[in-house]
Amino acid sequence: MSTESTKAFSGFFKRPITERIGLVADATGACRDDLARAIERGGIDPAQADKMIENVIGTYALPFAVVVHMVVNGRVRFAPMVVEEPSVVAAASAASRLIAQGGGFRAEADDPVMIAQVEVRNVPDVEAATRAIRAAEAEIGDAVNATVPGLTIRNGGWRGLEVRRLSNTVMVVHLLVDCRDAMGANMLNTAAETVGPRIAELAGGTLGLRILSNLADRRRVRVTGRVPARALATSVLDGLAVADAVEAASRFAEMDPYRAATHNKGIMNGIDPVVIATGNDWRAVEAGAHSFAAMQGGYKPLATWRRVGDSLDTAYLEGKLELPLALGTVGGTLGVHPAAKAAIQIAQVSGASDLAMLAASVGLASNLAALKALGTEGIQRGHMALHARSVAVSVGATGDEVEAVAREISRTKQVNAEAAAVVLTRLRSKAPA
Ligand code: HMG
Repeated sequence: MSTESTKAFSGFFKRPITERIGLVADATGACRDDLARAIERGGIDPAQADKMIENVIGTYALPFAVVVHMVVNGRVRFAPMVVEEPSVVAAASAASRLIAQGGGFRAEADDPVMIAQVEVRNVPDVEAATRAIRAAEAEIGDAVNATVPGLTIRNGGWRGLEVRRLSNTVMVVHLLVDCRDAMGANMLNTAAETVGPRIAELAGGTLGLRILSNLADRRRVRVTGRVPARALATSVLDGLAVADAVEAASRFAEMDPYRAATHNKGIMNGIDPVVIATGNDWRAVEAGAHSFAAMQGGYKPLATWRRVGDSLDTAYLEGKLELPLALGTVGGTLGVHPAAKAAIQIAQVSGASDLAMLAASVGLASNLAALKALGTEGIQRGHMALHARSVAVSVGATGDEVEAVAREISRTKQVNAEAAAVVLTRLRSKAPA
């Protein structure tokens, strides 16, 4: 897909599922039937699931959706999302549409360098151990490279080491490895276990843990998005006022860790579903994101927003997001899960760094949608209107009843199961037998 406008996807959500699949297939060059087959029932059956994890007794499906209106580094994209929460996909699409009006997301990613930690305890002289380990860096690098031949032939592999002193007798050595398009956890762990004994020997200490770090701060992604102030206007507020409201919401998170936690949850609303859809490890991504948010002392928002300029004609709202994102586009779940493979195809990613830029862009969009709603009308109108459909289904509404019940409980602002049950009973009593 390569066009500067996303207008063709307006109203995507109003089309039937089969038409949406057709649109996605046409735009991405995927085979419509293959795509439909890969995602129609969650992608895997119990026999396949039994090969993935242990003690399997079934499978568990979640909705598979796409974010529309995404323009990342000048290219129109879909972002695949697997998520259970209503309004998340709508919010990401709505905010991406706003950011598209400012030229789209501008994203960049570091080289995909991961850290494996080798801990050494009972070190008699940490300074001397550090010197010995540094002197043996080439030997350690060769040993690491020997464990990752698949990376070295792709110009990845060893990138050096860091030595950190944790106490008078405990040190940790970071092995830095470029994982190319792999997430890299298994390779990093193998490398750390292979060279760990030699490092402990060089340090004259006792070998401790050997495991990758999920604080993947060498593998960061940065995204910027701008929205012209005019595009932010609501029925009651002009664009400058909305830009100020978003900036004020950002500043609140910058001052208060309690708010920053929820602010960052709103960012992960966008990132996690892309991570899950593409078969990646969302626990690792969550751990990396929140440890990074706390790295400078105190827990901080991962994204911030500012209004730039004073005139309605030229002012814009600008958001910036930075976080570590260790994602893969080869190996792991991708080898065995047809829906994850379909997600990669839909995302049209050129590699792991490209996927990280796409996922982070959805994160920034999700953050903007939430802050715009919170800073203006409040979260409940947009969120609850979409949540109402789940509430309607939860009391037994089916087919056309779902929209009818959802509409009525949204109208009366009673988005709860009791009200939905009453509306459903009333609806059925009026329906012709
Ligand atoms: P709206 O302005 O009423 O939407 O917003 P609209 O009707 O003007 O449509 C704008 C675009 O939104 C559409 O453009 C769609 O892309 C999309 P089009 O494609 O038509 O040109 N859109 C939809 N997409 C799919 N299904 C739909 C749909 N409706 C609109 N039904 C909206 C409505 C819900 C988007 C808005 O109110 C919103 O973004 N609210 C925020 C919702 C949100 O953040 N939800 C996350 C859950 S709450 C949470 O967990 C996080 C939080 O705690 C984080 C924090 O505190 O920071 C809030």
